[in-house]
Amino acid sequence: MQDDPAKPDAAEVIRVQHLEKRFGEVHAVAGIDFSVYAGECFVLLGPNGAGKSTTIKMMTGLMKSDGGSIEIGGWSVAQSPVRVRSLIGYVPQMLSVDGNLTGYENLLVFAKLYGLRRSERTERIREILERFDLAEAADRLVRTYSGGMIRKLEIGQAVLHHPRVLFLDEPTVGLDPVARKGVWEHIERLRHEQNMTIVLTTHYMEEAESLCTRIAIMSRGRIAALGTAQALRAQMGQPDASMDDVFAHFAGRFEQEEGGMRSVFRSRRTARRLG
Ligand SMILES: Nc1ncnc2c1ncn2[C@@H]1O[C@H](COP(=O)(O)OP(=O)(O)OP(=O)(O)O)[C@@H](O)[C@H]1O
Ligand SMILES: [Mg+2]
Repeated sequence: MQDDPAKPDAAEVIRVQHLEKRFGEVHAVAGIDFSVYAGECFVLLGPNGAGKSTTIKMMTGLMKSDGGSIEIGGWSVAQSPVRVRSLIGYVPQMLSVDGNLTGYENLLVFAKLYGLRRSERTERIREILERFDLAEAADRLVRTYSGGMIRKLEIGQAVLHHPRVLFLDEPTVGLDPVARKGVWEHIERLRHEQNMTIVLTTHYMEEAESLCTRIAIMSRGRIAALGTAQALRAQMGQPDASMDDVFAHFAGRFEQEEGGMRSVFRSRRTARRLG
């Protein structure tokens, strides 16, 4: 864990209460409650189908909930969607760039979408290209980019309008270790240099532990455990447990009841995202 875990007196930036979502018979999000504090890196961990993406989509206002409430910066996502949209950036699990446009053009589309004034657009896009090490590739078609470059471009798009909160759904899935480290460094910089609050999902347990302040383990639409990695270990009564053990302890039980834990590192997910 970071040595600066969320302080109890940090401002509450996100408040989720009794949040629910159903898809027919599937109770994808089954009444969850949590808060995220200013400057945190908050991670949702959980097996495939646990409800992480659904939770994030409802927090961004892209998907309507079936119950409960979400506030961001004190604004209700349901009642003040435009206000909330100006406060947040979102990098979805699926691809959010157009391979047939250049990096610059992709950023321009989002700059217009966010309503950046014409006079500030060019400078802000250049700034983002520099910050995410994409200046040299700016005029190349994105379909020629590596997975890591695409991820950086997607994060760049999501922060063009200086959001207070950045949501990232599996930002490092399918990347090689070097590219993954690069993406994490950028996320860290956004958090430390711009005091951005980060909410992300990942299946990389060690990353979650070393880079995030608190971990919410989701399973079958519920939060099975929430706290710092140390607090979760303490709750298990095993202070030396690995993160894999922590994960299996809190999330695995439900899966085993269903006949074995599904792999959460499935490579098809990468193919699905980039292919
Ligand atoms: N649009 C949809 N229509 C029907 N069912 C859905 C829809 N989106 C999600 N679900 C179902 O809701 C449950 C939660 O899905 P969700 O995508 O939130 O899981 P996740 O934790 O993000 O999983 P993964 O790790 O695979 O990304 C799953 O059972 C999924 O099949
Ligand atoms: Mg998901």
